[in-house]
Formats: sequence, structure tokens, C-alpha cells
Amino acid sequence: MADLDQRAREIMKANDRGGFTVPSAGLYPHQWNWDSACAALGFAEFDLDRAWTEIETLFEGQWPNGMVPHIIFRDDEADYFPGPSVWGCEQVPPTSGLSQPPLAATVVRDLYVRDPTAGVARARALLPKLLAWHRWFHETRDPEGRGVIAATHPWESGRDNAPDWDGAMAKVDPRGVTPYDRHDIHQVDPSMRPTRDDYDRYIRIIEWGRAACWDHLRITREGPLAVADPGLTFILARADRDLGALAAALGEAETTAQTSAWIDLAAEGAARLWQDHLKTYAAWDLRNDRAAEGVSSVGFLAFYAGLSDPVRDARLLATLDRILSAAPFGVPSFDPTHPKFDARRYWRGPSWPVMNYLIGRGLEEAGLVDTAARVRADTRRLVEREGFYEYFDPHDGSGAGGGDFTWTAAVWLAWASPGKA
Ligand code: GLC
Repeated sequence: MADLDQRAREIMKANDRGGFTVPSAGLYPHQWNWDSACAALGFAEFDLDRAWTEIETLFEGQWPNGMVPHIIFRDDEADYFPGPSVWGCEQVPPTSGLSQPPLAATVVRDLYVRDPTAGVARARALLPKLLAWHRWFHETRDPEGRGVIAATHPWESGRDNAPDWDGAMAKVDPRGVTPYDRHDIHQVDPSMRPTRDDYDRYIRIIEWGRAACWDHLRITREGPLAVADPGLTFILARADRDLGALAAALGEAETTAQTSAWIDLAAEGAARLWQDHLKTYAAWDLRNDRAAEGVSSVGFLAFYAGLSDPVRDARLLATLDRILSAAPFGVPSFDPTHPKFDARRYWRGPSWPVMNYLIGRGLEEAGLVDTAARVRADTRRLVEREGFYEYFDPHDGSGAGGGDFTWTAAVWLAWASPGKA
């Protein structure tokens, strides 16, 4: 599949805007947080220097309070909604007002391990910035210290319209939202995107945050939505572990002590998110004290987090096997046997290469080699059949959403390509 490796590199280069990549030309014309972290993994396969730069430009958007925003607006001309004026964040460069799953520390550790001599100065410069970001997550998105990290907007989870938010979103009052024009539905078939009703609420939550001058602690405590997310919780726990290991390698013992305390707390959080009747970890609506009602793929990130629990792990693996047997092209973002499953609508069913990579990596590390091999093989098959789509229908494998997607190309190069295993 050398030609697909070649194609993946071409996509990454074509989406490179000089130091940062856009997720996909047209649909996402700025710099996105966890997309950039993934892009760095792809670049590392053929240009390690460029990989470091991707992370460094991401941190150009870091706020004084430590938050690394989910979007850095890079192109004044770009036709994108909601743009800087809707967010009203007064940052330079302009950014959104919320964050996204913190993959970066894990990626920085990966880059460092590849070539410690070349990476040491760059890793050392990033270390305090990563620590500040993680601290921001723990202090403002888990202010009660329960070990669970809240998303205050579905976009903060990276899984915009997942059924996990349905209960909490139903309580967000969309009335009075400022009229707006969406651009995404002119680029992609609207049946593959969030609905109008979802969008009204997304914008309403932004308007609330703007009116609160992006006081993140207040937003978590009083804003329209706060849902503890297994995705954020597990990805941060994993990133804390990698940050601690990186700090140890760099002789920064205090940082390692801090991250160990956070990891202990995350183990308590995981126990809170476990839903025995679903046999998985599920989102928990903190405002209304209700757990999500179906199985989303993020529960399987417990392996990636390294938060092992023998009883829960066995049940979780059984759930994953059940879900994979219901979809020829896994891992579906939502349970295909659930009435809310929607095979082509974004995070309500489709399989996403980025999530497969994270789930697969965790399974491999946990020694669950058969299931890991299935997840990797499915990802490979999807890209070989269809190309580098944003996401895929888990039943017929057809590509959906945007094409020539940066993180799909990156995941291919770093993990799914036959050249990698
Ligand atoms: C969508 C995805 C989000 C991603 C962004 C850019 O909003 O839900 O996870 O970061 O697109 O690809």
C-alpha cells in the first residue's frame, strides 16, 4: 500500500498552511486542537521537525489561564461559522472559548521518544505549557475534584452530536439565539451533520459563555451544560501519565508527582462513570444527575487511559466484542443496536479512524491483541476501500463527511498502514 502512504503524505502537505494544518480544506479552514495533535503523529513518520512545529503552533493559542482552545482562527478570509466575533474571546491569535480532548502531551512524549537528542529542548519548552493546560482541565472542568472531566459544550468533547449529550442538550433553552447562517451544510450533505435544533443550542451555549466573559470555572458550575465525559476523562488521564513520564525523563520530579496525584483521582472518576447495566463507562450529566443511556465508543478508551480494573475490563471487552459483531466496519461511535444509532450522522453511529487509533492503541498496550487487530484491520480496510474520509458508515463502509482529511491521513501513516505492522 505504498501508494496510499504516498497519498496520505500528499494530503498532509496539501492541508499544511505553513506550521499548522487545517483538518480539511473548506469544511474546517483553521487550526483545530486534537486534529493538530494527530497531525503531528502523521508528520513524525516523514518529517519529525515539522511534527514538533505543529504542536508548537497549537500552543500559540494558549490562554493565560492555561487553556488551549479548540480552534485557533488562522485565516481572516475563511468562510467559517461560528467565527471570532461570535466567540468574542479577545485573544491574539483569535480563538474559540473552550477546549478539546488533550492529546498533545501523549504526542509530545511520542515525538521525544523517537529522537530524544533532537527533541529535548523542544520538549522542555513545552512541558510547563502542557502542565498549565492539564491543570486548567483539572481545576476548572472538575472543580469538585471528583476525578471526572466535564465538557461544557458538546464541541469540547470533540464528539459534537453524540447521543451522550441528548439529555443535557434538551434542557438548554435555544430561544432568543441570534440568527445565523451555517456554512457546514453547504459543504457536506446535511443528513451527515448535526441538526438545526442542535446548532441553535450550540450557539446558545457559546452566547452564555461570551456573556460570562469566558470565566471557565463559572461556566462549569453555572453554565447551560456540564456533562462528565469518559472521553475527556480518559484522554486526560493518559496524557497525565505521558506528561509524568516525560517530566521524569527530563528530571522534573515535581511535575511527575503532580501528575501521579491526578492519575489517582482519575481512577476514582472512572469508578463513578462505570454503568454496570450498560457494561461500559458512560457520560454523566452533572446538572441533572443522569447517566447516558447507550454505549458510545469513548468508554473503550479506558484501556488507553491505563485505568485497569479486572472486573470492569472483562465486561468492557465483552461489550466491545458485542458492538464489533454488530458492525462489519468498526468501531461505531454509538451502539448499532440502539434506537438512536444513525449510521451516517457524525458522532451518532459512524466509525472514526481517530477513535479507532486511540482505542486500538489502548487494546494493544493492554495485551488484548485479537480485538486490537480487528480494530486496526477495520481501519485499514475502510481507507483502502474509500480513501481518507472524515468518518465511515459502519455497516457498508462507505466514506462520509469531509474528504482528504488530515487526521485520517495521519492515523493511516502512524498506525493503520500495512507499513506499520
Ligand atoms: C468536528 C469534530 C471534532 C473535530 C473537528 C475538526 O467538529 O467533531 O472532533 O476536531 O470537526 O476536524
